[in-house]
Amino acid sequence: MQIIEANGARIPAIGLGTWELRGRTCARIVEQALRLGYRHIDTAQMYDNEREVGEGLRASGLRRNDVFLTTKIWPTHFAPNDLIRSLKESLVKLRLTEVDLVLLHWPSPRVPLSETLDGLANARQSGLAKNIGISNFNVALAEEAVALSREPLACNQVEYHPYLDQARVLEACRRLGLATVAYSPVAKGRVKDDRTLARIGQLHGKTAAQVCLRWLVQQNVAAIPRTSKLERLEENLGVFDFTLSEQEMATISAMGSSAGRMVNVGGADWD
Ligand SMILES: NC(=O)c1ccc[n+]([C@@H]2O[C@H](COP(=O)([O-])OP(=O)(O)OC[C@H]3O[C@@H](n4cnc5c(N)ncnc54)[C@H](OP(=O)(O)O)[C@@H]3O)[C@@H](O)[C@H]2O)c1
Repeated sequence: MQIIEANGARIPAIGLGTWELRGRTCARIVEQALRLGYRHIDTAQMYDNEREVGEGLRASGLRRNDVFLTTKIWPTHFAPNDLIRSLKESLVKLRLTEVDLVLLHWPSPRVPLSETLDGLANARQSGLAKNIGISNFNVALAEEAVALSREPLACNQVEYHPYLDQARVLEACRRLGLATVAYSPVAKGRVKDDRTLARIGQLHGKTAAQVCLRWLVQQNVAAIPRTSKLERLEENLGVFDFTLSEQEMATISAMGSSAGRMVNVGGADWD
């Protein structure tokens, strides 16, 4: 498994996304993913599945240190004391003493960023989270967050797939020492029917989704595809035994545009 390193965090390049996975399905998929070789699981307070993610983790039989677990704080808990309290609640649901990474799920116009970052730094210093980071932060906000944070930020988790040009955010993350973690990395399943990706895949004996995920990890970007299907768990992990040529990487990169967003970021200015 390729590891993406940033500010001391070691993030396995492919993780399992868990948005919309609930109940028994969620616990089962998390367990199966870990048994197949996944070592990175992405959840959030908002997904209402932290309990089941924790169950899957325990059922896998893996040692705690072998799995990189991320959760995210919802903006209604961004006041510093609320942040710590809600993170402790997440840990109770997960039945863990710490997470590997905790993120601010979305920027909030309501609580000053400096105050929220103070709470986040406290979470790290008090051992509730090994690493801290941000999600859905545009270039200007990511710069502000890095400048304000007392503790180093490990990553910015943003939407990224071949239909969305994120060159500016990626460049900013590199410059700021943040890893980029791509959410909706297979464009919510849309890449499966993409002719360009399928054609490139044929040359490597890979599916269009595998080509898409390879294109991400080959840029040193981590990706957290979600699936509820066992065979796709395996498919999405099978991206470390082939390499895309420079030409193929460029062809895929040229497919993106600024209009390719699939998740509504609430009118945030991404430039
Ligand atoms: N930070 C944020 O604000 C934020 C926002 C959105 C998402 N996320 C995180 O990122 C994760 C992934 O994003 P996402 O769930 O929006 O979208 P995604 O992973 O791009 O796509 C998931 C969809 O694609 C299908 N799929 C997965 N692998 C496939 C494959 N190999 N071939 C064909 N179809 C495939 C799945 O269907 P099946 O189940 O039928 O396989 C599912 O419907 C989330 O689960 C969540 O953990 C974070």
